[in-house]
Amino acid sequence: MCSGGCASAWACRRSRSSSRVDAVDVRWRALSRCVADVRDVLDGRSDDDGAAPAWALARGWARGLAALSDEAVDAAERAGLAAWRADDEQLPGSLAKAAASVRALTALPVHEGVHPAPRDRRRASPRKQSQVAAFASLARPLASGCARVVDVGSGHGHLTRHLADALSLPAVGWELDEDRVAVARALAVNSDARFESVDVCAARQAMRGDDLVVGLHACGALGDAAVEGAREARAPFALVGCCYQKRGGDRVPLSDCGGDVDALTLPRAVLGLANMRDDDDGVEEDLAGRTRSRVHRIALRHVLRGFDATIAAGEEMRGVNRRRAVGDFEALVARAFEVRGWGAAPRSDDPRCIEALARAKAGWARARRFELARRMYARVVEVWIAHDRAMHLASQGRAVSVVEAFAVEDSPRNVAVLAARP
Ligand SMILES: C[S@@+](CC[C@H](N)C(=O)[O-])C[C@H]1O[C@@H](n2cnc3c(N)ncnc32)[C@H](O)[C@@H]1O
Repeated sequence: MCSGGCASAWACRRSRSSSRVDAVDVRWRALSRCVADVRDVLDGRSDDDGAAPAWALARGWARGLAALSDEAVDAAERAGLAAWRADDEQLPGSLAKAAASVRALTALPVHEGVHPAPRDRRRASPRKQSQVAAFASLARPLASGCARVVDVGSGHGHLTRHLADALSLPAVGWELDEDRVAVARALAVNSDARFESVDVCAARQAMRGDDLVVGLHACGALGDAAVEGAREARAPFALVGCCYQKRGGDRVPLSDCGGDVDALTLPRAVLGLANMRDDDDGVEEDLAGRTRSRVHRIALRHVLRGFDATIAAGEEMRGVNRRRAVGDFEALVARAFEVRGWGAAPRSDDPRCIEALARAKAGWARARRFELARRMYARVVEVWIAHDRAMHLASQGRAVSVVEAFAVEDSPRNVAVLAARP
């Protein structure tokens, strides 16, 4: 184990230079403090018409953020406020200090292991191939003494097949979606990987001490269920999470957070924030696309509220694929009406649509300045969730580490939790 508390030496290029902050428990404590301290920011969604939020006023950030030029906001949105350092002097002093703290808290050790690309590339995008290869090289050192690989949320089974081959171990993919299981089985001919249609949340007791439990982009409650299963089985563990908001209710911390449990129990709206990263421009959706999507959603809310004043923020997209918000506004409104069974929707030349779009654009031009500060904490929440999982496993006396598993270009959801056998 390295001096930074990492389970393996390969992950530690950055931690050698700053081992104190990279010790998982030290960072977990600092992250927990940070999340608890900014709960008002995390919970304070921006006002549709761009009024300064209470947290920005209370911290003395409102005036400085409102005064940022459009060019500065564009640059800060692209880089993320924490990384936007050139013009720090334009920020209120306490916000610049908060940004520096976020930078330090989220600068994880970077995995730079050598990883051969998957031999079987069928149905896997180049980005998925890179993720699989990098993840496999992270997991390899944990496999010693294991008799089986269990891949939770295995999807089409690219990681499962790769690990079966690379580790020469039988591997089983546990996947909820039967269609994905069928594709994974079809791709697994001549492989030691097999696939079962199971809900990991219900089946985690079937994990064994000689399993290597892995998950790549294990979404929502699945990630926490895998942590609990591996902990109960005392099995080594490697997982990259995603889509933290895909769960039934709030996320209660797994680790022992003492008196901060309430502040660290996160509702789905905050978990959704953790699924973003400012500097993922061009990876998930470019900045122009994200802006268009945001304005369309706010405008849709205005239109829907003209018919039902009780529509809450976020509810406008219920039942509508979020990608539709980037496309044509008239089609978006039509779809939102259709899922509600509301009859004919107003067309784009209807004054209600025209007015809603104009109001949404003007409101977002102001609100995006405050959102910069709120979104700055998105990565903090994601990295904190990973540390919460790691510390829960560490409480069994395991060596644990939290690292950046691959480049943001391969996926912005790149935080890996690694835990050796207790
Ligand atoms: C984001 S996909 C990742 C798939 C694959 N690991 C990959 O990296 O390509 C998450 C997968 O987890 C599956 N999943 C979600 N919840 C699950 C559960 N409770 N049990 C089993 N699979 C689940 C989903 O159906 C989906 O295929």
